[in-house]
Amino acid sequence: MRIMVLGGGGREHAIVHAFSKSRIVTKLHCCPGNPGISKLAACHAGNPSDPFQMTALCKRLDIDLVFIGPEAPLVAGTADALRDAGILVMGPGKLGAQLEGSKVFSKNFMLKHGIPTSSFDCCHDLEECKKALDKRSAPYVVKADGLAAGKGAFLPNTREEAMTICSMMLEDMILGSAGRNIIIEDYVEGQEMTILAITDGETVRILPSSQDHKRALDGDKGNNTGGMGAYSPVPWVDEPFMKKVEDVVLLPTLEGLKKDNIPFCGVIYAGIMIKPDGSLYVLEYNVRLGDPEAQVVLPVFAGDFGEAIFSCCKGDLAKVDWPVPEHFALGVVMASGGYPDKYQTGYEIVLREEEVHDTYIYHAGTSHDYTGTLVTSGGRVFTVVGIAPTLKEAKDLAYRRVNTVYFRDAHYRKDIGDKSLKGEEK
Ligand code: GLY
Repeated sequence: MRIMVLGGGGREHAIVHAFSKSRIVTKLHCCPGNPGISKLAACHAGNPSDPFQMTALCKRLDIDLVFIGPEAPLVAGTADALRDAGILVMGPGKLGAQLEGSKVFSKNFMLKHGIPTSSFDCCHDLEECKKALDKRSAPYVVKADGLAAGKGAFLPNTREEAMTICSMMLEDMILGSAGRNIIIEDYVEGQEMTILAITDGETVRILPSSQDHKRALDGDKGNNTGGMGAYSPVPWVDEPFMKKVEDVVLLPTLEGLKKDNIPFCGVIYAGIMIKPDGSLYVLEYNVRLGDPEAQVVLPVFAGDFGEAIFSCCKGDLAKVDWPVPEHFALGVVMASGGYPDKYQTGYEIVLREEEVHDTYIYHAGTSHDYTGTLVTSGGRVFTVVGIAPTLKEAKDLAYRRVNTVYFRDAHYRKDIGDKSLKGEEK
């Protein structure tokens, strides 16, 4: 099969890598890709969020199946255009992508279909924001409706701060049209975790469990980021827990989509909060794999990834073997100094390749400069992953490989996986 992966970050590098190990894949393409991906796939310039351009590219390359990595092309309708052209696509169309593209849509969807989520108000002006805040106490939860590249959720500690954020979104339009409508919801305390599943619209299959590390600094300090590291599977997650997630979150989501006549073939990412009493709340949906979660989940997926995705796109997910993972993966994000705030790019990268067995380096913010030198070009530069029979060994391998990568001002957390290794979770 000829496969096209859309996107060019660490997640897409992991997707391309997983496809490269499949016995049904003959040729891999990626748009736009990155220097790491280019070692495994033919990379093509282009904009994945342009449905017509992507359809023309995939037709020209005679692509059989497209896996859409990031959310923006899904929200833009790239999957719809490709399907209309007769190409198999992993990723929902515009309608299904609203689960991630609009918080107002997803909160109303959960309310309508009995999926547990915190109580909320949709606000369209400052008067409505005031009323919604008056009903609640600190910490407040304020979220922009639309896609905001991870910058649309706020946890202000005072009502005044919360009103300032609302006014910056509604009046100063700091997030553009993404902040035109606002969700104000109850704060839910507990342990956060990521559930990734794939569905063909009828069957849902859960990928290995994973845990992201969102804060920039060790000890969960510092600013929120896109994710500074992750590991998979989460040791305390057992079958009864996954069954509960399926029954309480995933199957009702699928039923809801069907009732609302929304076709959905792709990834369901449920960000969930586990309350101290064991009850589950859905914090958010995404309709793509997490980044950096994909970089640890896909390497431990024990089946043939190409076959699984092909079957999913054909509506045959129920027939796919779903072996239990035999290894742990732990990934450390190496970021540009200053990320997620201001940072410099263009620094030369020195990689001492293949020095540590059972490790992978997934590229995210890298490019070649005019001399062909590999340089930094983004906030998150690499995810360095170790794979081993235990989480502790996976961590040791990942950090040994981190020590073989050099670029100026590199920043990474030293404590990925520690809470789990110390038994502090669940
Ligand atoms: N790591 C969080 C996300 O992908 O949304």
